[in-house]
Parts: sequence; structure tokens; C-alpha cells
Amino acid sequence: MQKLNGLLTNDIIEESAWEALEKSILYYKGRPVGTVAAFDASVEALNYDQCFVRDFVSSALIFLIKGKTDIVRNFLEETLKLQPKDRQLDAYKPGRGLIPASFKVVSDNGEEYLEADFGEHAIARVTPVDSCLWWILLLRAYVVATKDFSLAYQPEFQTGIRLIMEICLANRFDMYPTLLVPDGACMIDRRLGIYGHPLELQVLFYAALRAAREMLICQGNQDVVEAIDNRLPLLCAHIRQHYWIDINRLNAIYRFKSEEYGKAAVNLFNIYVDSIPYYELDKWLPKKGGYLAGNVGPSQLDTRFFALGNLMAIISDLATEEQSQAIMTLIEDRWEDLVGDMPMKICYPALEDEEYRIVTGCDPKNIPWSYHNAGSWPVLMWMLAAASVKAGKPYIAGKAIEIAQARLLEDEWPEYYDGKKGRLIGKQARKYQTWTIAGFLLAAELMENPSHLSLISFDKLPSELVSRACEFEIGSVDTSISL
Ligand code: GLC
Repeated sequence: MQKLNGLLTNDIIEESAWEALEKSILYYKGRPVGTVAAFDASVEALNYDQCFVRDFVSSALIFLIKGKTDIVRNFLEETLKLQPKDRQLDAYKPGRGLIPASFKVVSDNGEEYLEADFGEHAIARVTPVDSCLWWILLLRAYVVATKDFSLAYQPEFQTGIRLIMEICLANRFDMYPTLLVPDGACMIDRRLGIYGHPLELQVLFYAALRAAREMLICQGNQDVVEAIDNRLPLLCAHIRQHYWIDINRLNAIYRFKSEEYGKAAVNLFNIYVDSIPYYELDKWLPKKGGYLAGNVGPSQLDTRFFALGNLMAIISDLATEEQSQAIMTLIEDRWEDLVGDMPMKICYPALEDEEYRIVTGCDPKNIPWSYHNAGSWPVLMWMLAAASVKAGKPYIAGKAIEIAQARLLEDEWPEYYDGKKGRLIGKQARKYQTWTIAGFLLAAELMENPSHLSLISFDKLPSELVSRACEFEIGSVDTSISL
């Protein structure tokens, strides 16, 4: 490894990162179609030799920025072909409209084909709800980067978007504008008490609705477009209002009455104050800081801070301007907890003791301060960079990149880090994890040229849609489409 005066220069780090990223490219019939999750020959591959849709997002964005649009287009076309288009009679098979969690290239008698995994092979058979949402976001990023709508306007792509919207907006056993999902249906793909209405998926849902609205041709899709227009403002208002936690809100919750029946209820979700760690939060919440809670449901307010949901809420404009500023203030003021020695914690704080045992099912990979249970994930750095730039505080990401830069290459681009400060390379972390590499390059690129933010960010929701949210109360409007 080359060093200059004992230090690795930025150029050397970037060069090595690009080299590693190129190595991770997956080829299908001679064409690049994605990147493998990790290129680590020292451990058994399991499914890390597959291309994960959520993992590919970081690679795709950096490829788009560098004008390497082919691989992204191929990825979008091939994954679209993997999407089931017919109604499924076998309940064990993936439903119509889903996009797989991952896929691999299989050779049979010299013939190559792609094999998808919709969670039916994954550990614990987890459902990837986020894949179809990321897929739409990536299609939009491709359109923004190439300034070419024609791919999205192709009939197969219009059908693909429509089918995704149909599963998301279908009638269901729920009366919130949020998406009801099982545990582990996103980046956190193991049991971690995030079933119900977890922030990460609500934010991706919001962003995907906005992206779909931009790309769907109205003709023939009027019902879906109307359903999106109805859902967007309600979803936005619901998250901004019911997920928000700052010291004022904590004060209100602290004095909540419970068991309120009927329309005049203030404590709408019947949150029992004793379920909230209010003394810890009283100490932890900075005066001007705040964040969106991890989950809201019946008698449930998960007060853990989840990084992806909060950062993407800023990027997608789901958080208000004041909320965005407060989230960034929280990150700044609680730097040691949320960033520490490796940007950044996937969630905070960890589930410990009995709570860890009950909620994770004693998962040895998710012990406190490890992996999904408050481990540190360098991939989150690009979202931190994008959110910092969007909130007008790029120095926050600058500091984070500096910290990561000092270690990532020497540590061989680990998947995640453990410990309260993130100083331990993850117990079971892969090395040469692609989204760690791409996330780092992307963060640097977003800082250098903030205009790239347009690939993934959204402006204010048009005011005619926002005003609709004021007209309706929760549950008073049908925002679903019937199938
Ligand atoms: C782990 C992560 C998941 C990721 C996959 C491949 O399962 O939890 O989010 O997609 O590895 O990197």
C-alpha cells in the first residue's frame, strides 16, 4: 500500500476504491448488470456474491455521476424482467409487482440466466419491501442523469411502475397513510422490532410515490395517479406530525392522557408514557435538535433514532425545513453517539439485555452495538453527505468523510463496524463490501459537486397537493386503489 509521509493520500484512496468497485461488477451475457454485495474471498460468500437492489443504489448513483449509464440501464431492464407480472396463485411465490432483494447469474449448459431471490432463499425468509421502492428511485435517477425520459416511458417500464404502485396502494387492513410491513423488510433485514410502520420504509415509500408521479404517463394510469395524489399529502402530514420528537413534543407526550376514546382524542395512538425512555431523552435531546421516530403504531412509539430514515427524509423533502435543520443539529450535537469514529450508526441506542433477547430473538449477529443493533455502517455516509448538502451544512459531512478516510482503505472497506464509538471492525463484517466503497466515493462526489443531489432529492411538494392534506382527517379518505 502506497503511503505519503506515512499517510494515504486522498488520490490513492479514491484510486483504490475505484479499482475495488470495478472488480465488483457483475456481467451477464457480456454486459455489466450490477455489482456484487461484497468481493471478499476470505469468507464463504453465502449470498454476498449476488447483486442486491438496495446495495446497488450507491454504485448506480456513482456510475451515473461518472457517465457510466449503461450498467444502470442494464440493471433496470434486467430487474424489471424479474418482476412477476401475473397474479400469483401460490402464496409461497412472490406476488405481482415485487422487485427481488437480489439476483445472481447462473450458467446452465453454457446458457446464462438470472436467478432472483425475493426472500425465499434469504436468512429468515425476509420480504424485501424496499427493493421496489429503491428501483423506482433509481429509474428516476437514471432519467435525471441522462435527461432522457424515454426509458421510463417505455410500456414495460410504465407497467413496472404501475404494478409497484398497485401493491403499495392496494386496499389493506390498515387505516393510516403509511405502509404496513413485516419485520426486517428493508436494509435491516433481520428481526429488530421494526414491523408495523418503520420510518425507513415510510420515507422510501414517500420518495417512490413522488418519483412514480413524475414518471407515470397519466393516460391509462389515471386511477394510480389519483391515488398517489391523494396519498402523498396525507403520508407527508402523518410523518411530520406523528413521528416527530423534539423536546416540546416530548413534553406533550410526557403529559399525555391515555385510554381516550372517540374523535376528540389527543393521544391518537394511545401511547403509554411509561413505554418511553423520557428521562434518557430529556438528557439526550439537544435544545434545538429533533428527529423522526423509528416507528409509530397502536400504543407504540419507537424512540430509537434510525439514520437512513432520517437522512432520506431530509433528502426527499419529507421533513420540513425546520425538522431538517433540527435533525442535522442533533447529529452535530450528539456526534459521539451517532458518528463517533466511523460514520454512521444505523440506529441509536442499541437494544440491550432482556429487550435485546425478546426483540431480536437472541440473534447473535445483532448483539448490542453490533451490526443492525446500533452498529456503524459506512454506506450511510453518502446519505449523510446528501442530507448535509441539502440542509446547507456540508461541513458536517466533510468531517465525517475525513474520519472515514483515515480508516476505510486500511481496514479493507468493511461492511460495518461495532462498538459504541464504532472502533471495532464488525464481528462478522465482510471486507470489500461494495456499498461501503461506492458510498464513500459518492459522499465525496456529492460534496465536490452538490448539483448531483438532484439525482436523488426532491423539491417541495406542490402546494395544491399539500392543501389537500388539511381537508382530511386520518382515515376519512380512501387513498387506495382497488384491484
Ligand atoms: C446484509 C444487510 C443488507 C444488505 C446485504 C447485502 O444482509 O443487512 O441490508 O443488503 O447484507 O449487503
